[in-house]
Amino acid sequence: MPEKLMLRNRDWASGIVEQSPDYFRKLSALQKPEYFWIGCADARVPANVITGLEPGEVFVHRNVANMVHSADLNLMSALQFAIEGLGIRKIIVCGHYGCGGVNAACEEGHSNGLVDHWIAPIKSLRHSHADELGALDEHAQRDRLAELNVLSSVTRIAESPILIEASAQGHSIEIHGMIYSLVDGQLSLLETSVKSM
Ligand code: CO
Repeated sequence: MPEKLMLRNRDWASGIVEQSPDYFRKLSALQKPEYFWIGCADARVPANVITGLEPGEVFVHRNVANMVHSADLNLMSALQFAIEGLGIRKIIVCGHYGCGGVNAACEEGHSNGLVDHWIAPIKSLRHSHADELGALDEHAQRDRLAELNVLSSVTRIAESPILIEASAQGHSIEIHGMIYSLVDGQLSLLETSVKSM
């Protein structure tokens, strides 16, 4: 199996060098992405592919259900490096409809093991938005919950000590919430209450 990946890698790399002989030399000399992307680990939502961005153009963190936990050292280290190390000023939190993590948060009386701890904030959102969600059918409920989870992650990023520190230092940082549709490949921007900081 790894051999297949190696072969595909060699084809990809040699194809690029054919088109642009300096490509890897230039890219290896500098990492200067414009965006920090926080997305779901789902194999169907690869950041570079769905945004049409090239290697080097987006700094990426992915986890199950694009969660932002304030004590997640992995994400918070990446966030700090994105802002302070790479000088990124545009952050995107991207969720997707049909998210397995969101669906799991909608299941009652069924244990999924460790991931239930990870997605507990989505269950809380489900309860705190029970009135809004209760007016929708089951499919629309899950779609809306995926959106609410993105908006909640945007707020958690905005309220993180790293963003507060960046703001105190006079950096203006945009945080956008997006949602991706597996069905048609379209990204949509969500209205958030978080303004540029
Ligand atoms: Co997902």
